[in-house]
Amino acid sequence: MSIRLHDLHHACLRVLDIDEATARWSVQFGLEVVAKEPGRSLLRADSEDYCLELVQDAEPDHDHSAWELAADCSLEEAAKHLDACNVSYSREPDGSLRFSDPSGRGLQLLAHRERSAIELWPDAGRRNEPPFGMHPRRLGHVNILAPNIAETTAFYTDVMGMHVSDKLGEAGIWFHVHPEHHQMAIVGKGPAHFHHIAFDIVDWGQLRVFLDHLGRHGRWLGWGPVHHNLARNLCAYVRIPEENLFVELYCDMEILRLPHTPREWADDAFGSNTWGVLPPRSYFRFDEAAVHSERHQLEAQGTPLPPLAD
Ligand SMILES: [Fe+2]
Repeated sequence: MSIRLHDLHHACLRVLDIDEATARWSVQFGLEVVAKEPGRSLLRADSEDYCLELVQDAEPDHDHSAWELAADCSLEEAAKHLDACNVSYSREPDGSLRFSDPSGRGLQLLAHRERSAIELWPDAGRRNEPPFGMHPRRLGHVNILAPNIAETTAFYTDVMGMHVSDKLGEAGIWFHVHPEHHQMAIVGKGPAHFHHIAFDIVDWGQLRVFLDHLGRHGRWLGWGPVHHNLARNLCAYVRIPEENLFVELYCDMEILRLPHTPREWADDAFGSNTWGVLPPRSYFRFDEAAVHSERHQLEAQGTPLPPLAD
């Protein structure tokens, strides 16, 4: 394998109003604004450089997920690897590489970044300027819906160099580039759409505080709280209609022993949730009818989701 990834670096979202979105993501998810220029903001969870990029655009959505290369893999080596895989890419002014996966999801490869002395310490041991208030530890993973799951899986293993963590029947596949269970996942529900970004938080207690905080901001859960059997994390999924995605807040994800042998989980309620509750069908959709149904809990009240318009 001639590409090696260090970790997920950031997610970039297109937002309608950069001032509104910057304040909203900061206040609601405890992210610190580290840079703000016309039309673009960078936010971080703790002591990293940034983990969320917001760019102003008339069509809000996920724009791209950015992956940082391992210390022993240069951008030139990564570019040669993309050439060998027949993946076309463009170069950003900073040398980073931009391309798309087979489902059209934007991707970016960034050069490895030397950590500051502060960042080499675990969060509670850092003696720098403390983050303000309640905040996630870090951005942990991204998750996409992609109906062409076999082709998309081949792309993330062969082109991106990720390793399969686990499969949920034919319904989903999870990938790691370091020992935490996953940094990337594909759920084979169509049509293709970005599904969620996920923030790592400390524990169940902080999850409760975060969810109360978000509830007071008018947020609701599309699914959760959940105890995933696959990956073991405790989590909940918060709907963000403004940018057509969910935010997962999670804690206590499984740490793999590497090298890891992928497991195949049954695609049933137990595989998805130790506690047995499956998501409403709206969880896999981002159209207005699904958001409305979920907001008013119409499926739970006996009204099925209307079919997805073509
Ligand atoms: Fe997730």
